[in-house]
Amino acid sequence: LISRAFRQQFIIPEFQQFCKHIEDIYEKCKKVTSGKQASYIPQLARVSPNYWGVSICTIDGQRHSIGDTTVPFTLQSCSKPLTYAIALNELGEETVHQYVGQEPSGRMFNELVLDYNNKPHNPMVNAGAIIVISLLKTMVRPELTLAEKFDYTLQYFKRLGGGEYLGFNNAVFLSEREAADRNYALGFYMREHKCFPEGTNLKECMDYYFQVCSMETNCEATSVMAATLANGGICPVSGEKVLKSDSVRDVLSLMHSCGMYDYSGQFAFKVGLPAKSGVSGCVILVVPNVLGMCIWSPPLDSLGNSVRGVTFCQELVEAFNFHKY
Ligand code: DON
Repeated sequence: LISRAFRQQFIIPEFQQFCKHIEDIYEKCKKVTSGKQASYIPQLARVSPNYWGVSICTIDGQRHSIGDTTVPFTLQSCSKPLTYAIALNELGEETVHQYVGQEPSGRMFNELVLDYNNKPHNPMVNAGAIIVISLLKTMVRPELTLAEKFDYTLQYFKRLGGGEYLGFNNAVFLSEREAADRNYALGFYMREHKCFPEGTNLKECMDYYFQVCSMETNCEATSVMAATLANGGICPVSGEKVLKSDSVRDVLSLMHSCGMYDYSGQFAFKVGLPAKSGVSGCVILVVPNVLGMCIWSPPLDSLGNSVRGVTFCQELVEAFNFHKY
């Protein structure tokens, strides 16, 4: 970082000026007060709707955070690109995609539906993420117990985030498991259609899925994970190559087409950047080869995306030339 600073070779040379613009967008979005927190579990319904945080990490490790960026929230569906990344990295694209497709589903994220090959549409919807979890359980270090696999996954996520905050919210986990009729239905439906790899224990697999959804992070740490994806798999904070560049390319491709629930097509059209949202109100946004961001505001729109999160992304590409096309 320092040698680049001396050579004035930062990817965003006028970083302070850039951050000033980001702060203006942050303030503008603060005025947006529509949306409602997820209510299917009490722990999410109780979170203050006023939390509002944006963190940036560039591929050369320049950082800026505005607002509530150290308040913890659960990863929820923002864990989906991360578990998919581990599966790709450890098993390769060919193996992973024998079990899950690459097509937007055009349906809600938890819909009971498979594609024309009887596979889940993609790893960013619940069905696909549950399959990815089953691959991690049965095919990646299969000798590990569920407890060891939890640690393995946590450590992997932590490396993506440069060792910054990553915890686990047990109350959210217990509630997720309590309120999981639809996810269990998806599990049984997929078992009926022989979607799972051999040796899958459905109950263990569902627990593992709820556990990764319940991992706890904050905007600052998550912006580093996003920056690792922006940087071809090298964490800009630790310098560690965590993911192969091919794995990152695949993750970003599907974030681009499937990452924002049933708003993904419009988001790809309007914002033109890979992103992933979660029901806790977080959005991971990647500007490839430039920076990663985490945007967090709990109130969601009818499709499940953070209202301020989506507004922020749209304002961002109005102000800067980040849309890919
Ligand atoms: O599976 C569920 O219902 C949630 N824990 C998933 C969270 C989420 O963000 C929805 N995603 N696609």
